[in-house]
Amino acid sequence: MNRKAVLFFICFCFTFPLTLTRAQTGEPKQAPKRIAIKAGRLIDAKTGAVTSNAFILIEGDKITAVGPDVTVPAGYEVIDLKDKTVLPGLIDCHTHITSQPSNYYEDIFRRSPIDVAVTAHVYARRTLEAGFTTVRDVGAGEFIDVALRNAINRGDVAGPRMQVATLTVGATGGHGDLSGFSPYLKFGGFSGIADGVDEIRKLIRFEVKNGADLIKLIATAGVLSEEESVGAPQFSQEEMNAVVEEAKMWGRRVAAHAHGTEGIKRAVRAGVTSIEHGSLIDDEGVRMMKERGTYLVADIYNDDYILAEFSKLGYPDKIIEKERMVGRTQRENFQKAARAGVKIAYGTDAGVYPHGWNGKQFAHMVKWGLTPAQAIQAATVNAADLLGWNDKVGVIAPGAFADIIAVDGDPLKDVTELERVKFVMKGGVVYKK
Ligand code: ARG
Repeated sequence: MNRKAVLFFICFCFTFPLTLTRAQTGEPKQAPKRIAIKAGRLIDAKTGAVTSNAFILIEGDKITAVGPDVTVPAGYEVIDLKDKTVLPGLIDCHTHITSQPSNYYEDIFRRSPIDVAVTAHVYARRTLEAGFTTVRDVGAGEFIDVALRNAINRGDVAGPRMQVATLTVGATGGHGDLSGFSPYLKFGGFSGIADGVDEIRKLIRFEVKNGADLIKLIATAGVLSEEESVGAPQFSQEEMNAVVEEAKMWGRRVAAHAHGTEGIKRAVRAGVTSIEHGSLIDDEGVRMMKERGTYLVADIYNDDYILAEFSKLGYPDKIIEKERMVGRTQRENFQKAARAGVKIAYGTDAGVYPHGWNGKQFAHMVKWGLTPAQAIQAATVNAADLLGWNDKVGVIAPGAFADIIAVDGDPLKDVTELERVKFVMKGGVVYKK
């Protein structure tokens, strides 16, 4: 199309919207659905307090009232959860929801982005049915995460609310690059590799243009890649500063993949909102994160699954060896950071292990220093704060989305109850009962 034609097309689209509104078709406007949930026990995620026999009133996709004194007006459909413990829908701040590994070489050489795209919705539903009504997805190829988020938002497929990072921003030869193969091997598709400030800025603009809600920075080496170390920094301070500055200009936050001691500090100094993994953090790093209010999102269940399964999936020994180097230290350092008062948000790296198992990390967080109430806060109020969605998700309060789950027992006594979520509502719609 020439420029005139493009202009005409744009004008046409704005003047003649192709879908007619209800008013135009004369269809009667449907009243929003009204639902009352009777909660046997209700956990207030903010305080950890438990209320018995409370009602939650829902109109459309939002909560309008909550408490033991709330009476149910006429015309409300009642959902009886009097034998259950009710709490806000859970939030996983570190997922790769579009795929999960089957076999190392098959995944690299035989699975196309289209294969990934057609199955992504399966994992979205599993995640939702596990009680995770919101996720922050921190890296996917080919903007499949954007397409999935949009399809969920339109109501075309069932899945959690999503914030998506699109392509991870990494250096040549780094954790986000495909290393260990012939230099003649070339894959098509979009690349998240950028070196130097200018390339970084251009890549971030490209990601924002195409739907990124946040930016994922690969600050250090990692485990599930073939570069040599787990923790070496992979961008200079200047480059990391540029990532955060550029993201900020577009109103985006930055999540930094960082296992290594020095790279963690560079990322925190640059002003990232969260450190992902944080495995080899030292006391100075802990102090810096505390001072700046940087969140730690540590995937401390992952090690169990990788060591049990990844050899069977054909992962090279050097990768399994890297996992052995960081697994336990990461958990000890998580405990140290949590005890020191670093802000903790729940994030699991689901997609390394099967989607729908997101709740398995709660038990590890309790084993490594949190109370069950703090672990629940990490996956609700804290996670909402990290996402910038305070008061919208992670709470059961008037004005928040009606994202509500229930379990049989008491997760404040046995946090593994959160691995067995029995009821899931998202935006006033029941997905599991
Ligand atoms: N995606 C991460 C990486 O490859 C997974 C790390 C898993 N290991 C762990 N101990 N958290 O670096």
